[in-house]
This record gives sequence, structure tokens and C-alpha cells, in this order.
Amino acid sequence: MKLLEEKIIKEGKVLPGNILKVGSFLNQKIDTDLLAAMGKEISHLFESDKVTKIMTVESSGIAIAAAAGIFMRVPVIFAKKHKSGNIDGEVYCASSHSFTHGNDYDMIISKEYISSDDNILLVDDFLASGNALCGMLELAKKAGARIAGAAIAIEKGFQGGGDELRAKGIKVRSLALIESMSEEGIVFRA
Ligand code: G4P
Repeated sequence: MKLLEEKIIKEGKVLPGNILKVGSFLNQKIDTDLLAAMGKEISHLFESDKVTKIMTVESSGIAIAAAAGIFMRVPVIFAKKHKSGNIDGEVYCASSHSFTHGNDYDMIISKEYISSDDNILLVDDFLASGNALCGMLELAKKAGARIAGAAIAIEKGFQGGGDELRAKGIKVRSLALIESMSEEGIVFRA
């Protein structure tokens, strides 16, 4: 998606440890015009996939998941990372490892919000090594739901997670796919 690539080039900052900082338009301050355009693009990419629900994980995935949900006219559910007081009843749980933060965390979703009738589109802001998506896949599997695919704003292709999921037959679509990046510049996969 040209608009997102241009924004990354203009405002993204490559930090040590292969981290791309996009706080000025995606992770902290949100460019709402760009967000709406991304939601619309995701709805086009999956328009014939009969998606019934979108799933993401808190927190940064929620905005883009909601934007896609508005255009696709389907509900959005997000996995929580902590079992808080406002999750009651039975839950599905999956554990995930964050390569970026170097920690393990749980993903929790109430059983009442996901079922075997669902065809789920996974959405997230970043795809790096793919651990967050694998956790979401596990949650959907536990519920007996089908997976329509995964839509990502920014994929860091050089970390391999996206290609591993594609090799498993999952339809993965990234709005910007970074082939390589360094302080000298960012190269997108054609
Ligand atoms: P993975 O899910 O693809 O394996 O990646 P990883 O565990 O490394 O990602 C952990 C977190 O870091 C995720 O957010 C992910 O969205 C984010 N992330 C990964 N690479 C980058 C990057 O280059 N730049 C930025 N800005 N974020 C990145 P999270 O921990 O769940 O945090 P949040 O959603 O609460 O912000």
C-alpha cells in the first residue's frame, strides 16, 4: 500500500534491535485518515473470504482491527494479556513469547465471543517472528473456528514469521512488507 510505505519512509525511525518506530502515526499518535485507508484496503483484500469476525491482541492491534471491522461490517474481538476483573466465565488461553520484549505472556479470550461457526480474520499492526499470530491461531483452534487469513499493517519480512505462516497455507496480506531496514534506509518487498 503506497500510502503506508510513503508514511513509513517519511516518519518511521529505525532503532537498534531491528525495531521500527512508528509512534507518530500508528503506535501512539494515530493518523486517522491513514487508519481508515488501511481498514478499507484490508476489507478489499478479504472481501470474498466470508469473514465473520476479526481477532487481534491488545493493545496496538486494536485500532487497525477496528478500522477493518468497520469497513467489513463484522465484530472485532481482542485477546487480553491479563485476566482482569472484567473477564468472567470460561476463557480460552494461549501463551506467546515476545521476541521484541523478550518475555512470555498469556492471551485470553472469553469463550462466549468466539465459536465454531466463526471464520476469523487475524489482524495486527506488526508481524515480526509471528508469535502473536501463532497465539491467536491457537485461540481460534481451541474454539473450533476457521481462519480466513491474517492482515497486517507492517510486516518485517526479514524476521520470517510471515513466510512461515504462508508456507502453512495461511493467506497473509501485509499492507507494507519490509524486506530490509537499517539506519541508511528501508527497502520494501516488491
Ligand atoms: P511477533 O509477534 O511477530 O513474534 O513479534 P514480537 O513478539 O517480537 O512482537 C512483540 C510486540 O512488538 C508486539 O506488540 C508487536 O506488534 C511489536 N513489534 C514487533 N516489531 C516491532 C517493530 O519493529 N516496531 C514496533 N513499533 N513494534 C513492533 P506488543 O508487545 O503486543 O505490544 P502492544 O501491542 O501492546 O504495543
